[in-house]
Amino acid sequence: MLQYKNNKPHIEGVPIDDIIKTQVTPIYIYSQNCIEKNYAKLKDNLVGDIFYSVKANSNQAIIKVINLMGGGFDVVSVGELKRCLTAGVNPEKIIFEGVGKSDEDILFAINSSIRLINAESFEELEKINRIALSLDKIINIGIRINPDIDSQTLEKISTGKKSDKFGISINEINSIHAYLKKYTNLNLIGISCHIGSQIFNLDIFDKVFKTMKDVVNNFLQSGVSIKYLDLGGGIGVQYNNADPHIDLLGLNKLIKLYFDEVPYELSFEPGRYLVANAGIILTKIIRTKKSGGTNFLITDAGMNTFIRPSLYNANHKIEPLDNNSVNNFKYTVVGPICESSDVFVKNIEMIEQKSGNYLIIHGAGAYGAVMSSNYNSRELPAEILINKSSFALIREKENIESIIDKDIIPSWL
Ligand code: LLP
Repeated sequence: MLQYKNNKPHIEGVPIDDIIKTQVTPIYIYSQNCIEKNYAKLKDNLVGDIFYSVKANSNQAIIKVINLMGGGFDVVSVGELKRCLTAGVNPEKIIFEGVGKSDEDILFAINSSIRLINAESFEELEKINRIALSLDKIINIGIRINPDIDSQTLEKISTGKKSDKFGISINEINSIHAYLKKYTNLNLIGISCHIGSQIFNLDIFDKVFKTMKDVVNNFLQSGVSIKYLDLGGGIGVQYNNADPHIDLLGLNKLIKLYFDEVPYELSFEPGRYLVANAGIILTKIIRTKKSGGTNFLITDAGMNTFIRPSLYNANHKIEPLDNNSVNNFKYTVVGPICESSDVFVKNIEMIEQKSGNYLIIHGAGAYGAVMSSNYNSRELPAEILINKSSFALIREKENIESIIDKDIIPSWL
């Protein structure tokens, strides 16, 4: 994403120096062009509709970019749903998933006339039916199936094994048929699944496609008119040179192999692939420190800004903002948070650094800003979107006073 023109780092046509002049670091910076390219690449290869998984990055500006490209949206909360609606998304292009939808959530989704609510349990089916009955409506629903397939990626981001909390087990399809007979206000039109994230191995997708095709056939043969099969997200991205990369052409062939001329529409719910590599964090080194033989660079971004490295041991490429290929020092890059796990990377080679220099953390467009927190009473960072030679603030840095102001002191203190 970063390009050097006259030795000055740019994203698209914008010099990073111009952004530094306007904002306090750490700053999330996204490239619109990169998101558009990612979308186009997926659209070319995933035969079917794309429902962007909003949880990856729910900033309305990002939603708008994907909306303009023609994408649909997969939301998992009323908050995400409201973000999409506020950003001007047509409700017909929104699907609502999640294992813990409250009655209020379900009612809000129904009243918003979204395309589908994907139910993830029998109790949820019962709830939706009850609410539909009270409204005297027939509600289109989908069911998320848990196909009991191991994504063979990180345990923490695996969702498709029978021991995971997601979806209705593939072994309970007979019960689904029985429930549907009973629940007269539900109209099952969609089947979906999502088994996990950061999948590169096409054999895993092969297993999912085969299994889900059989599931849909089971419903079709029983006379249930399934209109949509949603095959989830999970397409892996490269966060550093050691990561594999996904063979999109191979994936395309696989999709065609299983789903050529099926009587239902295919869709996918990628999140990370669309936005991860379209985002960086610009962070300033606030302290250098040598301790116990380790050279620490302490940045103003921490696990509160970007939690993936400490939560999943994710290894994101980090480099100095100023392009320099002489890598003669070893550094461990850490944040300012009072936790030993507040580490971005250990022992990477860089040219000698000093306080006040800037670093770039790559691959931060997905599960970055959305997972940032106020831990240690630090403000959520600013977010910026670049489009060609323009850039705009798309989320203000929080103001610490407004965070502190939310505390309420009880009368007895
Ligand atoms: N659909 C469903 C139902 C999901 O649960 C997810 C992600 C996606 C689609 C999109 O998956 P993607 O294409 O982005 O891999 N915070 C973790 C990722 C958690 C993913 C949760 N579900 C991380 O930073 O790696």
